[in-house]
Amino acid sequence: MTDRATRALPIGVFDSGVGGLTVLAALRARLPEEDFLYLGDTARLPYGTKTAGTVERYALQAVEALVARGVKAVVVACNTASAAALPALRQRFDDLPVIGVIEPGAVAAVQASRSGHIAVLATESTVRGGAYQRAITGLRQARVSAVAASLFVALAEEGWVRGPIVEAVARRYIEPLFGDTAYAPDTLVLGCTHFPPLLGAIRLAAGADVVIVDSAETTARALQELLTGKHLLHEASMGTRPGQLRFLVTDGEERFLHTGPLFLNAPIDNSRLERIDLNARSVSA
Ligand code: DGL
Repeated sequence: MTDRATRALPIGVFDSGVGGLTVLAALRARLPEEDFLYLGDTARLPYGTKTAGTVERYALQAVEALVARGVKAVVVACNTASAAALPALRQRFDDLPVIGVIEPGAVAAVQASRSGHIAVLATESTVRGGAYQRAITGLRQARVSAVAASLFVALAEEGWVRGPIVEAVARRYIEPLFGDTAYAPDTLVLGCTHFPPLLGAIRLAAGADVVIVDSAETTARALQELLTGKHLLHEASMGTRPGQLRFLVTDGEERFLHTGPLFLNAPIDNSRLERIDLNARSVSA
């Protein structure tokens, strides 16, 4: 049985930027009494165009910073980092429950798809590594068509989530996926946590019949199960205690305060935000 002080610790949540706030929104909704410590590695974003080795090194540094501040579990709310670094994180922090977003995203896709043809939009690094392809086909026989949509990350970080430019970019990435009308995908996975706010433009390009899923909700469910199984849930009963949020960024506090609320669906209080330097840490992959 874990002690009371451990159960009262926050849950660490980490992404390269504001994208993971879409996951944090779902975690808060499911576990409203928990505290969360969110880290956006905004100084080194984007992760999605970097090699797996670099992303793994960044992720180890990020989780070390969260652990140094005291967390009882970590959610890697970044598909790119989940794909590149989960085994290394679990090995390095072997006492700490760590979950990623790829498995939960694959579960959501498999639950939604009838035809077995699933499309994935993700970063270049996630697509190149084939993590979604493996996770989905590990759950069922399926055809997986994955496309790297790197520009979506820049648009999202800029807060450009709707309008003609976003729609044109969405068409460019998505329309080719649906070119083969005889066996077009019936499900589209948003395999990057930066993408959900662009849903309107993505929906326009994909068409009304496609089921669009992301990993936020299934990740929240997986975290709840994990914390329950490890006796790590906060002791306050549901609804009796509003959980607190704290935010760490590695650069661009103003930009984070401005764009973050769009992703979190809630205001971000300046006094809860701190800038930290991950380069000061000497973790090597
Ligand atoms: N939000 C991250 C993901 O889910 C990637 C964004 C980036 O390229 O840094 O993959």
